[in-house]
Order: sequence, then C-alpha cells, then structure tokens
Amino acid sequence: MLLPLLLLPWAWGALAASPPVPPASVTLRLLQIYVFHNASSMDMEGMALLGDLETHSMDCSTCKIRFRQPWAQQGLTPKQWQDLELLIQRSLSDFILKVNRGAQQQGMGYPFVIQGSLGCELHPNGTSRRFYDAGVNGEDFISFDADTGKWVARQGDNVAALYARDLLNRDKGAASVIQFLLRTCVNELKSFVQHGKESLERQERPVAVVFARAPPQAGTPAPLLLVCRVTGFYPRPIRVAWLQDGEEVVAGWWLNSSGILPNADLTYQLRSSLAVGPGDQHSYACRVEHSSLGGQSLLIPWEQTRRWGLGLVVGITLGVVTIAAVAVVLWWSRRRGYQDVGPGESSP
Ligand SMILES: *[C@@H]1O[C@H](CO)[C@@H](O)[C@H](O)[C@H]1NC(C)=O
Ligand SMILES: *[C@@H]1O[C@H](CO)[C@@H](O)[C@H](O)[C@H]1NC(C)=O
Ligand SMILES: *[C@@H]1O[C@H](CO)[C@@H](O)[C@H](O)[C@H]1NC(C)=O
Repeated sequence: MLLPLLLLPWAWGALAASPPVPPASVTLRLLQIYVFHNASSMDMEGMALLGDLETHSMDCSTCKIRFRQPWAQQGLTPKQWQDLELLIQRSLSDFILKVNRGAQQQGMGYPFVIQGSLGCELHPNGTSRRFYDAGVNGEDFISFDADTGKWVARQGDNVAALYARDLLNRDKGAASVIQFLLRTCVNELKSFVQHGKESLERQERPVAVVFARAPPQAGTPAPLLLVCRVTGFYPRPIRVAWLQDGEEVVAGWWLNSSGILPNADLTYQLRSSLAVGPGDQHSYACRVEHSSLGGQSLLIPWEQTRRWGLGLVVGITLGVVTIAAVAVVLWWSRRRGYQDVGPGESSP
C-alpha cells in the first residue's frame, strides 16, 4: 500500500511533549491524485494541507518532496526526507501494479482517476476525527474506519469498490500501518500548528467596494442589484451584511452571496448582492466584519445613483464653464497679441 506511506513524516516528527490544542478546529490532510491514462502510463501528485495552507507537495515526474512553507521541513532530518522519497518511489510501482491488475480484473476502462484523502481534524474541545477516504473518478469509493480498522465500501452496489475493500481488508500489515499513522496524526498536527503558527495566524485586511449592476433593460422597473465585493482577506471566516437605514437586512430572495472563493495569493473573496426597488429612497451600506479589523467593522455606503447624476451634471457644467473661460482668455490674449505685435504699434 502506497497511500499511507506518504504520511510517514507525521509519525517521525511526533513531539514527545504534547503541545496545546489550537483555539479553532484544524485539519491536517494529505491529498493524493493518481491519473491512470492506460495500463502503461500514470501521473501522481500529492500535497499536504494544514488547514488551507499547502505545506508539502510531490509530483511524481520526479517524486521529490517540495516544502511549500519555510517551516515545513522542520521535524525531519534531510536524511529522513530522502528515505521517505525513496520509500514512496519504491511503493509507487507496487501500487501501480496492483491497481492495474485490479482494473483489468474488474474490467475498468482507462483512463480513470483515484483520489485519496488521509488525515485528522482536531477540535478545540480536544476531541479529534481521523479519516482516510478514497474516490474513483470523483465518486466516493472506499473509506477506512479507524475504530474497527476495516475498509468499508462507500457504494454498497459498486462491485469494484467491494472488490477493493475485500482485497485491502486481507492486507493486515497495511491496515496496522494506517492505524498507526492515523493515531499519530493528531500529534503531528499539533506540531505543525506550532511550527506554522505565524503562517496560520496571518491576517490580511479585506478591501470592499459597493457598486450597482444596471437593471437588465433600461426603462423596465426591474430591481437594482447592489453588489458588495470584498476581497483580499485572510483567514477565511468573514461576515458580510447589508444595512438598510442602519438596520441589518434579513435573509430572503433579495439577498444573494457568491460564497467565499479563493484568490490565487491565498486570500479570499466574496460577493454579496442585494436587490432594491427602482424608486427606493432608503440608505444602504455594506458592513464587513473580519478578525483583521481589530474588533471594528468596514462600512461602505451605497452612493445613490441620483447623487451620481447630480455630480455628473455639476461636473459637466463646471467643464463647460471652464472651457468657455479658457476660450475667452485665449481669444482675448490672441487679440492682445495681434495688437501687441501689430505693425505701427508699440507695446505699452
Ligand atoms: C498511454 O498514455 C500516454 C499518455 O496519455 C500516451 O502517451 C501513450 O501513448 C499511451 N500508451 C498506450 C500503449 O496506449
Ligand atoms: C467537540 O467539538 C466538536 C466540534 O465542535 C463536536 O462535534 C463534538 O461533539 C464535541 N465533542 C464533545 C465531547 O464535546
Ligand atoms: C444568486 O447568484 C447566483 C450566482 O451568481 C445566480 O445563479 C442566482 O440566480 C442568484 N439568485 C438570485 C435569487 O438572484
């Protein structure tokens, strides 16, 4: 069994003294993706995630472990990391052989994708959950039950899943290795949380803007959609609400949210929209609450269209007046210029 071997650094890095339980639930998980193109070609990628932070990655064109955080190498010596890479490289060929044999026996068509997710979640009350789930082609396939030490099929009617379950349950050695890894996972998690404290506690302030999406067709009395776009924040938890005349707008068809989406730089974004009637005279504001704001909240008022309209009229009027003034000055100075240099006249 290859999958559990990727978890060995957690076991090696176990701390003797148990560090404190983190203040919020944290998950340590190892994700693996195996793409079987055909019986002779496959790609493998793996990554370790602490919460939403990628700590390690592996791409099996080389099968080298990469450290994605400055502190991710702590807990193992260079020699141990090397041994781990070797172990993975060797186990991979055994795993590929077994999967291909199973695929042929079960008449599974290529290509197919196997995904594995192994790890543990530690809650602030000190309890934890351990898991090892595998999926095939994006669907649940089998899971390891840490309490009984047995694999279970996630789809009772899937012959291939039942086959894989029985095959794996006969492998007592692999099961005890997995049990050991899952047992030590929580200690590893605590150790990583300690090493990566600074990265995990990173605070990025949200930036928010409010704008209106025009109604679908001009002239129709469709509601105006006010949009509050909040981006660049970390960590993920955030609260965004709309205020109508200072009162929080309650949930309903008029409210919609994109949900929290990731940005490329490990910050997050969210859009919340509010539908308001075309002739609405209330005042609206978007309120953002986030841990980076030090107990305060961002309040972004919606600048009503009619105010924009007034601004535009004032702007255009000022512009016209300015152009007229410049034209008059130019005309006057040119006239004076002609007069100044006109023949037969001398400057005063
Ligand atoms: C297997 O898949 C790889 C990658 O898609 C391809 O390059 C190769 O030609 C395939 N081999 C066979 C025997 O089909
Ligand atoms: C501990 O916290 C988790 C998550 O908040 C909860 O699901 C679980 O029931 C709690 N367990 C106990 C014993 O309080
Ligand atoms: C909410 O937003 C989603 C995605 O932008 C959209 O598909 C959906 O129709 C919206 N729902 C309402 C009630 O406006």
